[in-house]
Amino acid sequence: MTIHIGAKPGEIAETILMPGDPYRAKWAAETFLKDAVLVNEVRGMLGFTGTWKGNRVTIQGSGMGMPSLSIYVNELIRDHNAQTLIRIGSCGGMQPHVGIRDVIIAMTASTITSPSSAIFREVNYAPVADWPLLRAAVAAAENRGAKTHVGGIYSSDVFYAERDDLDAQMVRHGILAVEMEAAELYTLAARHGRRALAVLTVSDHLQTGEALPAEDREKTFGDMVKIALEAAFA
Ligand code: HPA
Repeated sequence: MTIHIGAKPGEIAETILMPGDPYRAKWAAETFLKDAVLVNEVRGMLGFTGTWKGNRVTIQGSGMGMPSLSIYVNELIRDHNAQTLIRIGSCGGMQPHVGIRDVIIAMTASTITSPSSAIFREVNYAPVADWPLLRAAVAAAENRGAKTHVGGIYSSDVFYAERDDLDAQMVRHGILAVEMEAAELYTLAARHGRRALAVLTVSDHLQTGEALPAEDREKTFGDMVKIALEAAFA
């Protein structure tokens, strides 16, 4: 047991899928895992462990934003032997060729600040995905016929952004989408020698104002879970 994760030693798998929303973790575990059992409910941040095609998997909520994710990922890595961590979540599209429902696989994640910024000081560290995991996820997404984009994303500290000029610079520099967690996940995985990836679905678009209809959310989320599982065990 750690401060924020109530699981007993051995109850968490080495492979972990991390949606922001704990109820998504519950839905994904009940839908895709065999024999899923609840292993964490501290602060309602639900986590479940089960198996997928005979492989042990934990699906653990991260909460929203890098400070929240950082707490769970630190404890999962330091105390629960997490080896492979895949964020599954939504993002806001930033390029005209990126559409609602498209899958984004994040090669890099830029930030202004993250919980790790203080240790880098003057260096603009470039958080990067695990390459074999990224390659396997791209293959899995393309096999499912998902319209997939691979490239840089931006991990923001705010959902309600007030800096139009910053969005414009991100767009100008080819950033595909914005979300709030991947950069810190990649940084922590690199620090501890673990594998990390973010597989995202475009739920809204910053330029067009379009948003994913509520009835489509479950299907697109399910596609991400399958891509993440196939990549983890490729
Ligand atoms: N901004 C930040 N995070 C997000 C967004 C957004 O527009 N959409 C989904 N996650």
